[in-house]
Amino acid sequence: MAPESDRQRALVAAFADVAVAAGYGQVISPIFEDVRVFHRLGEANDVVTKEMYDFEDKDGRHLALRPELTASIVRAFVQHRPRPPWKAWYEGPQFRHEKPQAGRYRQFTQIGVEVLGPDDPHVDVEVIALAWRFYESLGLSRIRLLLNTLGDPDCRPSYLVALETYLNDHRGDLSEQSQATLATNPLRVLDSKREPDQAVIAGAPLMVDHLSDDAGAHFSAVTDGLQTLGIPYEISPRLVRGLDYYVKTTFEFAGDALESAQNALGGGGRYDDLAEQLGGPATPGIGFALGVDRILLACDAEGVFPAPPTEPQVFVVDVTGGEQAMALTDQLRQAGLRADRAWGNRSMKAQMKVADRSGAAVAVLIGEGELANGTATVRDLRGDTGQQEVSRTDLVATLQQRFAST
Ligand code: HAM
Repeated sequence: MAPESDRQRALVAAFADVAVAAGYGQVISPIFEDVRVFHRLGEANDVVTKEMYDFEDKDGRHLALRPELTASIVRAFVQHRPRPPWKAWYEGPQFRHEKPQAGRYRQFTQIGVEVLGPDDPHVDVEVIALAWRFYESLGLSRIRLLLNTLGDPDCRPSYLVALETYLNDHRGDLSEQSQATLATNPLRVLDSKREPDQAVIAGAPLMVDHLSDDAGAHFSAVTDGLQTLGIPYEISPRLVRGLDYYVKTTFEFAGDALESAQNALGGGGRYDDLAEQLGGPATPGIGFALGVDRILLACDAEGVFPAPPTEPQVFVVDVTGGEQAMALTDQLRQAGLRADRAWGNRSMKAQMKVADRSGAAVAVLIGEGELANGTATVRDLRGDTGQQEVSRTDLVATLQQRFAST
């Protein structure tokens, strides 16, 4: 609720401006989809196996509340076939069945972009830069960009064999949970934060050391591009991300002002095979999603991006019956001012109390005298400029001028 909701709205609007200025068009996609759309996120992945809210509808269709939007956007691409390069931005609620805690919710809001079409590494740079500049525009400074590559179909399989062999050799030293993960999704073992796993993970073979020429050249072009733009990054060779569709570039933004368990303020990467897996033409893709709830927590922690002003600028106090207030608030709102009034034809004192509490900067008083003179009294509620009687014909323009710069 307000004022937090006003802040969230302002944040999404700021992101929309950044995305539209870079040529992205909004996609508004459904809250639920056929569950098969999300199976591509990974059959052995927590988001799909444990965290998805899925259900059967009255016709027996198996549906799921979306846990993220990349799969939905790619499904929309496959269905509607917009001409590549297709640049989409989005915002909206996502649902994951998690244990709620600060910064981790079952319903949370993401903003993000996806680009379908080019596999040019400069697209990776554009996408990463968009998120980085957005964080900067909010005033956040304690953000780190973590960057990795997950290779491509030429080098990933042999790397996975090397990783699996290594992890199996050290199986006994892994936690019980990681032993189970090893059986289904070895790459995800690298993501474990459990203490007993750390020594094994530290010695594990790394994808960056097994890259094909093409994947290596792609990654170098991305890091070169980020350097050209002056965007600092840390190579994070064990960053594997929680969804299985990624290839080549992957990244995450860590918010150092937040506790480390929930400090991922956003993440993304390339998913060059997803369109084909969803039944479309082979079309490379890349994008990111940022967690709005967590960004706002980071803004709190860094003391930036306050809620936008929403209190009325003008509060109309009408003690002549209320019709003047009705007409004047309508006029002021049409002129673009935030205006409010009191109800119930109460006394001047009672209405002034409401005006004060509303946070308005000025009250406009209309009593019998003003009504007879065709004027209104403008009273400063916050400063000490006192009050002045203004002709009703000049009133709206006078107030507009007063608030022109706020
Ligand atoms: P993800 O890393 O699962 O990626 O989520 C992106 C961001 O959403 C996280 O970094 C975090 O800020 C926020 N988030 C995730 N789960 C929660 C939660 N339970 N409560 C609060 N915030 C949360 C994706 O969703 C991919 N679709 C990103 C992407 C786009 N990759 C390519 N394109």
